[in-house]
This record gives sequence, C-alpha cells and structure tokens, in this order.
Amino acid sequence: MPKAWIQQRKKDYYYKKAKEEKYRSRAAYKLLQAIEKYHFMKSGDVVVDLGAAPGGWIQAARKIVGSKGFILGVDLKPIEPFSQTNVRPTIGDLTEPATLRQILSTLPRKADAVTSDASPNISGIWEVDHARQIDLAEQSLNIALETLRSSGSFFVKVFEGDMLNDFIAKIREHFQVVRIIKPKASRAKSSELFILGMRLKKALD
Ligand SMILES: C[S@@+](CC[C@H](N)C(=O)[O-])C[C@H]1O[C@@H](n2cnc3c(N)ncnc32)[C@H](O)[C@@H]1O
Repeated sequence: MPKAWIQQRKKDYYYKKAKEEKYRSRAAYKLLQAIEKYHFMKSGDVVVDLGAAPGGWIQAARKIVGSKGFILGVDLKPIEPFSQTNVRPTIGDLTEPATLRQILSTLPRKADAVTSDASPNISGIWEVDHARQIDLAEQSLNIALETLRSSGSFFVKVFEGDMLNDFIAKIREHFQVVRIIKPKASRAKSSELFILGMRLKKALD
C-alpha cells in the first residue's frame, strides 16, 4: 500500500471510528447509515451479504438483526469467524451457480434483505472498473431475486458510469421503491453509489 494512502487513512474519521467501535471495516457505517434512513433491515431478519470480507457489513447487520436473525456472508476470500452462532461466513464466488445453491441450502428461510458491497480488483481503467462493478451488481441482483421473500430489500454498491441507468431500470422492474444513496461514510471523491430496492414485487417460488 502506498505510504501517502496509509497516512491519509489514519486521519479518516470513519476509519478511526471503526477502530474504536471494533468494526472490521469503515464500510460498516455506509450500511448502518442507509438502514438508519430507510429502515430496510430489522430485528430477526435473515440477511445475505455478498462480497462480505473482512466482515464490517456482517457486523453492522448483526447489530440490527440481533440474536434472532441470521446472516450469511459470502466472499472469494476467507472471512475470520464470528463468535455468534447466527452468523455464517462462507467462501464462494457470487458469479458461480454453485454459490447460489450453497446460499439456498444454508438459509433457514427466504431472505428479508440481500446486500452486496462486492468490488472487482481495481484496474485503474475507469470504463473497465465500471463494467466489472456493474457485472458484479447484476449477478448480485440475480442472487437477490432467487433468495428474497416478496417485499424483501436489495442494497448494492455500484460505480457511476454509462451502464448505471440500465442497471437501475432493471432494479425498478423488480422492486416497488428504488433509491440512489450516497451515505456520509462514502468518500465524496469516490464514484461509488448504492442502489436500494425495497418491496420486491414477487418472490420466485
Ligand atoms: C469492499 S470489499 C467488502 C467490504 C465489506 N462490505 C465489509 O464491510 O467488510 C469487496 C469484497 O468483494 C469481494 N468480491 C469481489 N468479487 C467477488 C465475487 N465474484 N464473489 C464474491 N466476493 C467477491 C472481494 O473479495 C472483497 O472482499
């Protein structure tokens, strides 16, 4: 990691807060802020978190769903285990059909919310990174459509770019309410945005 980047990170408000509050990533606050505003996750919910390593969103979701909920986290990379028994970190590639089968067989029932913070390795070529990100977001949407209950919610990271409007249109086809969100914890200079689809129109059987 470049030295300047490490220095910059140490000064960052949410980085320090995450260290103090023992979140595994500053990204946890992006999810918490979105939930605080739109209330799309609650106590007792079943949640699937895609692109979950190192586990900040899992911790944030666990805080909301509590001991009666269930969280399945999926990432290419291993996620350090959690002490709570209702949190299941697993290794999986969200673009592989086997991962969907694994998710469906692990969930205690259909999910109330699917979240995805999955990001490709950044190449630095803007169009390439945008296209890869949208691809991961679309694959996450497919998993959401297969695993959510009717009226469930989908919260996904995207990068701004030409393909974004078509992706948002796809979300609108399936969800009654759609919001585009830039949480405070998301750096202003980052092109990341989050799309929230609420009230899935019809769950698959
Ligand atoms: C920004 S990080 C997620 C941070 C996480 N939300 C947190 O709060 O700790 C993005 C993650 O997406 C994962 N990822 C990228 N492509 C993936 C894929 N095809 N399947 C599963 N995970 C993937 C990466 O391995 C990386 O850990």
